[in-house]
Amino acid sequence: MSANEQTFIAVKPDGVQRGLVGDIISRFEKRGYKLAAIKLVTPSKEHLEKHYEDLSDKPFFKGLVTYMLSGPICAMVWEGRDACKTGRMILGATNPLASNPGTIRGDYAIDVGRNVCHGSDGVESAKKEIALWFGKDEVISYKQSQFDWIY
Ligand code: PPS
Repeated sequence: MSANEQTFIAVKPDGVQRGLVGDIISRFEKRGYKLAAIKLVTPSKEHLEKHYEDLSDKPFFKGLVTYMLSGPICAMVWEGRDACKTGRMILGATNPLASNPGTIRGDYAIDVGRNVCHGSDGVESAKKEIALWFGKDEVISYKQSQFDWIY
């Protein structure tokens, strides 16, 4: 597990419309993760079909892409130890009804088709997703603190 593992986190259109971007950023910051990239985007249908290409044979695929096209998405890269796995824990279970209170979905959602946020399910998919959503010069590498003991 690397100390600078990166994960792709997106606040989905319902999360942006409901004004949850700040809260979601805050949860990652307070946990100790470092923001490496952020932008508000309205991706094309083709971009979203590529992002969800592994799900193309699922019955909900078309509805999922339509939902993701319904408004701006806040795309982010967060960095830190075990960022993919812990990021998914911060988000909560995919189906909000199974998400624990204290997680983003467990606090804000009840419908799997409106589950507020996306997080990479592993290091390999994070690399693919970050490359799809961000150019190399948009992901910033910087030292967050002069004190190693804070992290
Ligand atoms: S699966 O079936 O196990 O491969 O799917 P899962 O890993 O649970 O979820 C993958 C993404 O599909 C979204 N999803 C849905 N969207 C709309 N309707 C339904 N029924 C549905 N089921 C799953 C789910 O939110 C995941 O999206 P991301 O963006 O990865 O969180």
